[in-house]
Amino acid sequence: MPDIAATPLGLLAGKRGLIMGLANERSLAWGIAKIAAAQGATLAFSYPNEAVGKRVRALTQELGKIELLSCDVASDEDIDRMVADLGQRWQGAPIDFVVHAISYSDKNELLGPYVRTSRSNFTTALDISCYSFTAVAQRVAPLMTAGGSLLTLTYYGAERVVPNYNVMGVAKAALEASVRYLAADLGALNIRVNAISAGPIKTLASNGISGMRHLIKWAELNAPLKRNTTIEDVGRAALSLISDLGQGITGEIVHVDNGYNIIGMLAVDEALRSVPVLTELGQQVERQKQYGATSLRDGKTEGGAGDDRP
Ligand SMILES: NC(=O)c1ccc[n+]([C@@H]2O[C@H](COP(=O)([O-])OP(=O)(O)OC[C@H]3O[C@@H](n4cnc5c(N)ncnc54)[C@H](O)[C@@H]3O)[C@@H](O)[C@H]2O)c1
Repeated sequence: MPDIAATPLGLLAGKRGLIMGLANERSLAWGIAKIAAAQGATLAFSYPNEAVGKRVRALTQELGKIELLSCDVASDEDIDRMVADLGQRWQGAPIDFVVHAISYSDKNELLGPYVRTSRSNFTTALDISCYSFTAVAQRVAPLMTAGGSLLTLTYYGAERVVPNYNVMGVAKAALEASVRYLAADLGALNIRVNAISAGPIKTLASNGISGMRHLIKWAELNAPLKRNTTIEDVGRAALSLISDLGQGITGEIVHVDNGYNIIGMLAVDEALRSVPVLTELGQQVERQKQYGATSLRDGKTEGGAGDDRP
């Protein structure tokens, strides 16, 4: 396959984009940042605190001149300040795209039954993983004076129940709905709004989901393309959505999962290789069921036995 990242197409030459949610070299945001920079974009990155900021600064050095801005998306004041700051640093030049690759939940609630979800983590998870996209859209839309593209990241757990994904599935379902509402609102300004639904990838955030190792193996065995999704796959698809290649696409949830979402039954040709994964999962679920029954009876809400976060 030709390396599109190394192909001098310049699909984003002259465009300016803000990337929110880079944590390290495994981040989906990094897959997007690398290809966006290679295609000629001028980039800015936001980070929620100094610890992450330090890593982002080191990682983005290879991209040449970029802008770094602090922003905890739980705070409207932070988002206001970040957008104003970016407007000044780019001297009023239009912003062409924003990538929102941010999610958060207490990892103790990404384990076992969804029914134990607490009100406080539900509120926080929906606020940071879903509402923040709308809050950012509100503030950057006036700076997208030449039209633009807003892109967020979602996962199949929004559409179907995936063990342990729990409140994140609910947050992603709300995020996908907001993509459609935002696309309808902002279309008149020629601002497109889309999401990529990525297959499971080992990252800092996904490490918090119990059983992630199994999800990744299961996706590889059962996806039509028989491989796992990479951050480069995400980057390539993102390029089409944030560049003019995607000029007719808005309000879409684009699956970048090697086709996993179209499958209605496990891959029969992989049945033998699926046995160990299913056996391990079955044992984990049994342990969780036993714990879940006890904790529900006792009114506990925290995570329980069977936690096998990688
Ligand atoms: N890894 C996967 O399997 C997968 C699959 C589909 C979708 N996604 C989505 O991709 C996006 C990026 O996640 P990732 O897997 O690359 O993990 P990651 O840990 O690399 O990125 C998550 C980012 O969210 C940021 N963040 C969390 N709370 C924040 C806050 N209050 N303010 C600002 N930033 C905050 C973190 O600093 C981090 O940079 C998320 O929306 C995630 O749900 C991930």
